[in-house]
Amino acid sequence: MKGIILAGGAGTRLYPLTIVTSKQLLPVYDKPMIYYPLSTLMLGKIREVLIISTPEDTPRIRQLLGDGSQFGMELSYAVQEKPEGLAQAFTIGREFIGDSPCAMVLGDNIFYGNGLNAKLRAARNAAEAGKATIFGYYVEDPKRFGIMEFEKTDEDNGHGVRILSVEEKPKEPKSNYAIVGLYFYPAGVSDMAAEVKPSARGELEITTLNDMYLKQDRLNGQLLGRGFTWMDAGTFDSLQKATDFVSMIEQYQGMTISAPEEIAYHLGWIDAEGLRNAAARYGKSPYGDRLLAVLEGKVVI
Ligand code: DAU
Repeated sequence: MKGIILAGGAGTRLYPLTIVTSKQLLPVYDKPMIYYPLSTLMLGKIREVLIISTPEDTPRIRQLLGDGSQFGMELSYAVQEKPEGLAQAFTIGREFIGDSPCAMVLGDNIFYGNGLNAKLRAARNAAEAGKATIFGYYVEDPKRFGIMEFEKTDEDNGHGVRILSVEEKPKEPKSNYAIVGLYFYPAGVSDMAAEVKPSARGELEITTLNDMYLKQDRLNGQLLGRGFTWMDAGTFDSLQKATDFVSMIEQYQGMTISAPEEIAYHLGWIDAEGLRNAAARYGKSPYGDRLLAVLEGKVVI
């Protein structure tokens, strides 16, 4: 199973913040935004990840994350010349993906909640068995997102759904459930993505790709329930809310959310020495201190 982080886009919604830096490198409390989607893929035990960004931002992201060996991972990079749509990630990543199933997470999407690992495992198993998976999350403003219409099933403790339709930013949404920016696809996704035609707004929409899987009866759906937090940190307000959320959880629990080095250590991808070296890179920051607390065995999960 391979993974893609799509971390490009024009970022104009956050100007002037993103004139000289990548949106995905902006801080969400104590760490760069891209640490969050990277951690999500890691929790899905995805070790080979391609990061796709703009010509300007790709070198900056590489400077931060390098080849991924500090996380026991293999990170590679590709450029998207223009933001022509989310589905393009799979044609840009064709060589990287090869004949593997592949997950994709958007670089500004933050996931936090108990039970995420089990959901990722189920999506991964489905992708290995030839089916795609999308995830739904209740929102108050459904016109802003890709939306899923569904029927509930008894699967996944009541969180399994049968998808009836998917629509990108519908004028008359058929539900309040946004399709979040985390997608799992079976082998062959690059060929499917190559068939996607530009939408009315001129983009190669991920929702069109999902609709192709739906029409082939190969699209699974899962809901992320009330105990779960999903945020798309792509606007000033949502970025601020994400920062408030992470600071609240981290200070309340005294634990770090989405620290790739910690996840790598718990997964056995790096050993104690690897974690110590990683912590040393962060100097006197609380982030580095918390990695050291993991080493002392104070945090076990
Ligand atoms: O966040 C979830 C939503 O993401 C989904 O509900 C929608 O179905 C999906 O289309 C997408 O909607 P957005 O309006 O948020 O898409 P946006 O154009 O803002 O792009 C999402 C992220 O992907 C953003 O961080 C920029 C990046 N991006 C976008 C495009 C179009 C790229 O890296 N390349 C691109 O070509």
